[in-house]
Amino acid sequence: MSAHHTLYVQSTGGDYEVHIGRQLLAEVGKRVQAVCKDVTSALLVVDESLLAFSYADTVEASLKAGGMPTVRTVVARGEASKSLATADTLYTRCVEAGLDRKSVVLALGGGVVGDLAGFVAATYMRGVRFVQIPTTLLAHDASIGGKVAINLPQGKNLVGAFHPPCIVLYDVETLRTLPARERSSGLAEAIKHGVIWSESFFSWLEEHMDSLVDGDLDATEEMLFTSCAIKAEIVSKDETEQGVRAFLNFGHTVAHAIEALAYGQFAHGEAVAIGMMTECLISVSLGRCDETVLHRLRTLLKAAHLPQHIPPSFDVDALIAAMRRDKKATRQQLAFVLPTRIGNVELYPDVEETRVATALRARRLTQ
Ligand SMILES: NC(=O)c1ccc[n+]([C@@H]2O[C@H](COP(=O)([O-])OP(=O)(O)OC[C@H]3O[C@@H](n4cnc5c(N)ncnc54)[C@H](O)[C@@H]3O)[C@@H](O)[C@H]2O)c1
Ligand SMILES: [Zn+2]
Repeated sequence: MSAHHTLYVQSTGGDYEVHIGRQLLAEVGKRVQAVCKDVTSALLVVDESLLAFSYADTVEASLKAGGMPTVRTVVARGEASKSLATADTLYTRCVEAGLDRKSVVLALGGGVVGDLAGFVAATYMRGVRFVQIPTTLLAHDASIGGKVAINLPQGKNLVGAFHPPCIVLYDVETLRTLPARERSSGLAEAIKHGVIWSESFFSWLEEHMDSLVDGDLDATEEMLFTSCAIKAEIVSKDETEQGVRAFLNFGHTVAHAIEALAYGQFAHGEAVAIGMMTECLISVSLGRCDETVLHRLRTLLKAAHLPQHIPPSFDVDALIAAMRRDKKATRQQLAFVLPTRIGNVELYPDVEETRVATALRARRLTQ
């Protein structure tokens, strides 16, 4: 089998391995067989963008060679596919294909396909086994931790479940075809992991950002290994978000509001980048961290070709109203994860609205 990195994630739903390396697509059948016993059949859910390449053919051939009759289903690209309507189509496909409780659902794609296929796997026949085969940089975050969800018209991820995969098979060679904008989007979550957990990883990112932006596969593989290890450590410590897992929401209070208001205009990581800058500004204004944190974050986001501020046309009051509606808001308070230094964050349960508005409007002051 190919040389690669392996991580272990602890989960109450069953521990699982995360493999990161090259030529893993051709090994999917063998590796799934090794961890999922007695598989009767497989549903391979594929992002339509991937049909331009041979990834799905390789995975399907390896599943069939492993003795798993496989049905492929293609999902339209984009966040709109994380819907009840698409889930409905997938359930129908599962029934038509005769999938039973011993079947497995595999997600080949980015976070959209991972969340959607995972949701279907969590609910079809009260749950069948699930395998993640991420093909975007951002999906390094999405594929670990067991959260699966679909959106409602009222908001993102409003219907979901915890349904950890049996295994995550991350073939970095698929990232060669990822558009540059999506690569940057994925780098935002890696930067987040540095801010919330590891100064040394943040420094490593500062040193290697140019290679990462250029798509250098060795640097990418190393980055993914460390970033996935951080995510794995956090979710293994706190699977159900009673404590440290909430740190992963750094940048996301603002990001989810941006995504709710400017549907489809921003890639997820772009919204997270703006969110991290805004939340860092809030932290500085509260005296919880100093300007050097803000400066390092801004410099790294720029190097990753990520935005740092909302466009001037954005309605700040509407953004704040959207934050209050977010499912993570309790009693409608504006809660934030705020950095205190690079590598450390704290929960701040209630920030005044004017402070949030000032940080959102800080564009001209900080450029
Ligand atoms: N479950 C979690 O814990 C978690 C964590 C973070 C994000 N998410 C979710 O992940 C989603 C975002 O994921 P994403 O950024 O991967 O978006 P995505 O799945 O939409 O993929 C981004 C784009 O890249 C294309 N693509 C995918 N792989 C490709 C490849 N190898 N080559 C060429 N094109 C390719 C897709 O068609 C799409 O257009 C959001 O819905 C977010 O809520 C979930
Ligand atoms: Zn995210």
